[in-house]
Amino acid sequence: MADFEYVSRADAAKLKKGPKPPADLSHHFSRVTAARQESKIKEFYKYFMIPGIGNLAGGLPNATFFPYDTLEAQIAQPERFKPTPNDPNDPSELAKTLAATTLKKDHDVTAASHITVPHASATPNPLQKIDLTTALQYGTAQGYPPLYSFLRQFVREHYHPNVPYLDGADIILTNGNTDGFAKTIEALSNVWSEERDWVGDREGLLVEEFAYMNAVQTARPRGLQVVPVKIDLEGMLPTGEGSLEDVLENWDTSKGKRPHLMYTVTDGSIGQNPTSGTYSIQRRKEIYAICSKYDVIIIEDDPYWYLQFPSATGKEAEARGTALTAAPPPHKFEKSTGYEFLDSLVPSYLNFDPDGRVVRLDTFSKTVAPGCRLGWITAQPAIIERILRITESSTQQPSGFVQAMISELLIGSQPAAAEFAKKSKAEQLTFSGWKADGWVRWLAGLRGSYERRMNRMCDILEEGRFQLKQGTPVKSAESDWAVISKTKMYSFDWPRAGMFVWVHFHFETHPLWGKVSGPKLSTALWVYLTTKPFLVLLAPGLMFSPTPEIADEKGWQYYRLCFAAVSEEEVEKASKRTVEGVRGFWLIKDKKELEDIEGAQNAQQMQEGLMDLGMNWAC
Ligand SMILES: Cc1ncc(COP(=O)(O)O)c(C=O)c1O
Repeated sequence: MADFEYVSRADAAKLKKGPKPPADLSHHFSRVTAARQESKIKEFYKYFMIPGIGNLAGGLPNATFFPYDTLEAQIAQPERFKPTPNDPNDPSELAKTLAATTLKKDHDVTAASHITVPHASATPNPLQKIDLTTALQYGTAQGYPPLYSFLRQFVREHYHPNVPYLDGADIILTNGNTDGFAKTIEALSNVWSEERDWVGDREGLLVEEFAYMNAVQTARPRGLQVVPVKIDLEGMLPTGEGSLEDVLENWDTSKGKRPHLMYTVTDGSIGQNPTSGTYSIQRRKEIYAICSKYDVIIIEDDPYWYLQFPSATGKEAEARGTALTAAPPPHKFEKSTGYEFLDSLVPSYLNFDPDGRVVRLDTFSKTVAPGCRLGWITAQPAIIERILRITESSTQQPSGFVQAMISELLIGSQPAAAEFAKKSKAEQLTFSGWKADGWVRWLAGLRGSYERRMNRMCDILEEGRFQLKQGTPVKSAESDWAVISKTKMYSFDWPRAGMFVWVHFHFETHPLWGKVSGPKLSTALWVYLTTKPFLVLLAPGLMFSPTPEIADEKGWQYYRLCFAAVSEEEVEKASKRTVEGVRGFWLIKDKKELEDIEGAQNAQQMQEGLMDLGMNWAC
């Protein structure tokens, strides 16, 4: 008898040990996306790159006619801002120093360095060439080659080194996460119209109960049904009433197809905008398992990943005198990111994604500047390939100006060896760029700066949560005692990530509760806070209510406070003014006084205006 067996290639692949390829999820592609063919013009680009080729084929303008000779800038050193400890319970001297650091200027690290993007670089290698001749020319849709290759390597080796499927994830550059989301939705959903289509064809998008509305506004006009899932501080509930499992398991097909897409802001509800919670690793695994069971694609929008605040839980417990629940032991992955700071963060869904059903959106908007309009998508190669096709016939590529500037910042110019040798020592030093180490140090510095602001704001809000009133004792025997009544005006959780404090106002404790409706009280508070001497503008919870039902039921009870946009001093002042304003508002007992708050009558309209502004600001 033969000591071997014949097996098919497919079965042989199954028998192989080690990572498996990602699942074929092409049944999720929209009709338009599935029908897209590779742009023929772009296929030529690899030929353009052949050194010395006489290019008579493309319709490219001549680079000598670009009016920019160079692009130059003064840039920060990556150490400009002080980090905070990764572990707030770390007793080491270094951790103590970091924890005590203020934002006082340190002249050594605040000095700027100069960068120049030359018109033409002598470097022949396109992966190292950063110059205006290539950056301002038409280019490849996946991104400017040096930046694409730097980011791809960085993402695979340092951001998400534990992607479990064979050969790992791929990336494509975008014009930021708004663009990344629009393209992902275009790739994975069909437009549905009530007049034209059968309800059974209507697709759905699962979102957190309070959500980043720009995404909702992208999905809704396509006819997608926006389906909220109940949340707690971490994010979506996996099980229980209103949870992800509940929604999917008990889906009523008369309302449309069971949703096959989920939009989640994983950091701050890890970085969640607006609620600033954090999905733990355990929660991510549970959510992922449900998505895998019901074949749902996870779109992870994560602009705030690096803004996870390890001090929040302890400080909150300390401020409230509550017991600190022991943190679960840190999750050990097979591969380290190579950086203590990145290892300390709760990692992306990509790291728990054997199926390849996670599409992750990253942006430079919060790490460099929103005006860059630059970001990238990370996902399994087959999904990235379809988004590449969409990019080819829409934005083509992010702006060459920004790609050149960010390349210079991160990678630095790479002059040809002979050219480099001729430069003085000082000049050679300017050719460095931040590199991976500098980039991670920059992120850690930003985390430190925002974490201190968050703590400042929360300290002040914490003190002002209750209205304290001294009453007169009823019995004469108690006349030596003061009677203090404590009215809880609002509550909040110290943000575990992100840029926001999500405050729940308890209007039911207001003296006018029962005489004036809750939503009216809420809008009056909002206007009252904008008046002198308080002068603070909060983002209404209505702005983040994905359905009219959620807006009516509870959206009006919440306001979002951002501690990022104003200076550290202003965070303190504005937080104090907020607390004073809320206190003043809770003293209003006369309905007439409430009606006299200037503009309160039109507040609803003003809030709607602000919502539009919020949409336009995409924040
Ligand atoms: C959750 C979330 N996604 C996306 C964005 C917008 O990102 P971008 O500027 O990269 O388009 C923001 C901005 O505030 C955000 O909070």
